[in-house]
Amino acid sequence: MNEIIDHEKINSGIQAFLEKSHGHFIDGNWLDGAANKTIDVINPATGDVISSIQSGDESEVDLAVTAARRAFDSGIWSKMLPVERARIMFRLADLIEMHTSQISLLEALDIGVSRDMMQMIGVKLAANQLRYYAGWVTKINGETITNSRARPEGREFLTYTEKEPVGVVGQIIPWNFPFAMAVQKIAPALAAGCTIVLKPAEDAPLATMYLAELIAQSGLPSGVFNLVNGYGRKAGAAISSHEGVDKVSFTGSTDVGKEIIRAATGNLKRTTLELGGKSPVILLKDANLEEAIPAIARAIFFLSGQNCMAGSRLFVHGDIYDQVLKGLKVLARSMTIGADMEGTYDIGPLISEKQLTRVMAYIDIGVSEGARLITGGKRVTSLSGYFVEPTIFADCDPGMRIVKEEIFGPVLTIQKFDNEDLEEIAALANDNIFGLSASIWTTDLAQGHKLARRIKSGQVGINVHAAIDPATPFGGFKQSGWGREFGREGLEPYLETKAITAYL
Ligand code: NAI
Ligand code: MG
Repeated sequence: MNEIIDHEKINSGIQAFLEKSHGHFIDGNWLDGAANKTIDVINPATGDVISSIQSGDESEVDLAVTAARRAFDSGIWSKMLPVERARIMFRLADLIEMHTSQISLLEALDIGVSRDMMQMIGVKLAANQLRYYAGWVTKINGETITNSRARPEGREFLTYTEKEPVGVVGQIIPWNFPFAMAVQKIAPALAAGCTIVLKPAEDAPLATMYLAELIAQSGLPSGVFNLVNGYGRKAGAAISSHEGVDKVSFTGSTDVGKEIIRAATGNLKRTTLELGGKSPVILLKDANLEEAIPAIARAIFFLSGQNCMAGSRLFVHGDIYDQVLKGLKVLARSMTIGADMEGTYDIGPLISEKQLTRVMAYIDIGVSEGARLITGGKRVTSLSGYFVEPTIFADCDPGMRIVKEEIFGPVLTIQKFDNEDLEEIAALANDNIFGLSASIWTTDLAQGHKLARRIKSGQVGINVHAAIDPATPFGGFKQSGWGREFGREGLEPYLETKAITAYL
């Protein structure tokens, strides 16, 4: 049976939600900060202030860590019957799905993408992340170990391992896909039995506030999930340096990732980082261009390029170079730019004026470096929000800054190669400090697999770009990060291994 959606009720509910000033969610209650300073929440499609959040700092982080520590030490979550813990996670997944319209609407207002797009990817993926990790709760096991230690006749050793939750975890998330990001962070932590202090990005916090309200209805004990709002250099820095936090998990820029590591040294927090990317897309000459060209355009222009996996460096074989350039140019020019609740437009805004300035500066750099601008390159001045045209630079060189640095905007660089040698093609693609994602386009699957082996990156797609899934490990080589999220590997960083040996 189809759900009957009462749009009027949803819209008025969301209106009331926006009118609130959102505080911090600590120990099951919403609190305003001691300083009672607020941060405006802006709709980047219009530049309008649509809501506000509290700007927390050390004192709120300390309250949240204290609540998370108390909840952890009490065992209310980590010692709950695993099957009951899983049940609460499944219930939260159902609650999320039941509120898809509300979450999508908030997300659309907060980051300016179309509601339809968020319904397709953000909310469903988030619910499925929770379900995936809820499935793990009852399957977290140690192992028995074959022990070769010398022992006298008649004596034996029994050695086994147990997995324990790491404790209180701090989680700091960015503004691209904020809802899915929040859920994908909390899911493995909850499955492991950890308690959480999460900080949403100040640029897009709203859907995460809504998540906290759903968590409050899910039966999760108070203090297990806590949320502190605020700026990165205040609330974020307080989380990554707090001695009461056992582990920090961060998604965001590489520069801040490095700051997190420095801040985490005080108590040697376990640290996982999911950072930037400059993902290569490699088009071999036998690729099916009818499929590849639209997919390559989506890989870079989706969410206006504000995606850590964005396929931002395209390498094209010389035999098909002109044809590919032409195809991409036609497609980029046909894309409609704007944002509305009906999901009418192909390309939405950038998240903020700051991001707009950054992207426009990179476009200027590209022009001054001598890259050939084949389409786009301008801010859309007819719209009041932060919109930039889909932009393509051809004839790029490996030394250009637009090729080397993460732009996080709708800017594609194209380089030509005339080589058939897989080692040399891989060397071109690997010539970057990042190693998050990559894709290879070819009808010769053997070549595709061989090239995949030679690419230094956490994910490689063959005839698909950025095909993420809750069961598939996700993370980066090189400066794209430390550790993995998703899959079994995404659970491990939330667990400690204890080896127990008995002398029998
Ligand atoms: P950012 O890395 O500053 O922000 C991400 C999160 O970290 C936010 O919640 C922020 O409040 C927090 N944060 C900032 N400084 C912190 C600190 N010192 N300690 C702890 N937490 C801190 O990213 P920003 O400034 O919003 O975007 C700048 C660039 O970063 C983008 O242009 C893009 O290149 C990159 N970026 C990459 C992302 C990815 O998924 N790989 C996501 C967001 C940004
Ligand atoms: Mg920042």
